[in-house]
Amino acid sequence: MGEKKRILSGMQPTGRLHLGNYAGALSNWIHLQHEYESFHCVVDWHSLTIAYDQTERINQDTVEMVSDWIAAGLDPANATIFVQSLVREHAELHLLLSMLIGLGRLERNPAFKERVKDLNLRGEVSYGHLGYPVLQAADILMYRAHAVPVGEDQSPHIELTRELARKFNTTYEPIFPEPETLLTPSARIPGPDGKKMSKSLGNYILMSDPPDRVEEVVMKAITDPKKIHMGDPGRPEICNVYAWHCAFNEEMEPTVARQCRQGVRGCVECKQEAAASISDRFAQFREERSRLEDARDYVMKTIREGTERARGVAETTMKRVRKAMSLFSLED
Ligand code: TRP
Ligand code: SF4
Repeated sequence: MGEKKRILSGMQPTGRLHLGNYAGALSNWIHLQHEYESFHCVVDWHSLTIAYDQTERINQDTVEMVSDWIAAGLDPANATIFVQSLVREHAELHLLLSMLIGLGRLERNPAFKERVKDLNLRGEVSYGHLGYPVLQAADILMYRAHAVPVGEDQSPHIELTRELARKFNTTYEPIFPEPETLLTPSARIPGPDGKKMSKSLGNYILMSDPPDRVEEVVMKAITDPKKIHMGDPGRPEICNVYAWHCAFNEEMEPTVARQCRQGVRGCVECKQEAAASISDRFAQFREERSRLEDARDYVMKTIREGTERARGVAETTMKRVRKAMSLFSLED
C-alpha cells in the first residue's frame, strides 16, 4: 500500500454524471484505483468561482455525484472520496501559494482566458476566479500527489501546479513532488448536436438515464448530413453516433465504420444499435445506482470516512509547510 504512487483528482459537484464525465474522467479513475493510492475530491469551492450565488443545490449535487462514482465502481476501500470544503487546510495552502505566483502568470493561463471568453466575463472576473488554478494546485500538492489524472484541457493547470511546487521547494524546503499529468486516454464525447457533451448545454445523456431516454436522445443525433438514404456511403469520422460507437460499442466499431463507408448501413438501425449498446454498458450501473438511492447513509458514511482520511494527510502536510516557512508556532 505504502509503495504505491499517489494520484489526486477533483470534479465539481454537478449532480448526476453524463457519458462525457464518465469517458473523460470517471472510467479512468476506476481503472487507476488499483495501481495508485487514489484521492478523489468533490471540489465544491471551485464551483463557486462562477456560480457563487447558486449554492442551494451543491449538497444534493455532491451526494448524487458521489453516488455515481461509487455505483460505477470507484471503491471506497481503494479510493479516498472526500469533499474539498470539509478539509479547510485547502484554503490555508491556497492562501500561502497565492503569494508565490504573479497576476500576469494567472491572467495568461490559457484555460482562464478561454473561460472568460466562453462565459463573456470581461471585467467581471472575481479575485477567487483568477485564483482557480492556485486552489487546484493546493488540492494536488496537499496530498503530495505524484500524478493527476485529467483531460487535455487541464494540462495548463497541472503545469502551473508544477511551477508552484518548484517555487515552494526552492524558496523554503523541498516538500512537494512535481506532479505529472496522467492524460485520460479517451476521446471527447459529443452530444447529439456535435458539441462537447455538457450539462450547461443540455446536450447530455446521463449514465443513469433509462433506455427509453437514451434512445430518445440518440435518435435525434446529427449524423453525416450527406447520407440521406440507406444506400448512401457515409463518413463516420464526422458522425456523432459513430463517436458513441467508438466509446461504448468498441467491438463493433470497425464493422460500423466499414458498413457506413460502403453504404450498406442505415442511420436508423445504426442509432438503435448505439442506443442499445449504451444502455447495455450502463445496465449494471443503473442497478447499483438505484440501490444507492436507498442507501444515502452509506454514501454519507463513505464521504465522512474519506474526509477523515484526507484530513489526516492534509494536517501532516500543513505542519510541514508551516515549519518550512517558519510561521509562528506555540509548540517548540
Ligand atoms: N479544474 C478541474 C476541472 O475542471 C477540477 C479540479 C479541481 C481538479 N481541483 C483539481 C482536477 C485537482 C484535478 C486535480 O476538471
Ligand atoms: Fe453515422 Fe451510422 Fe449513419 Fe454512418 S450509418 S452516418 S455511422 S449513424
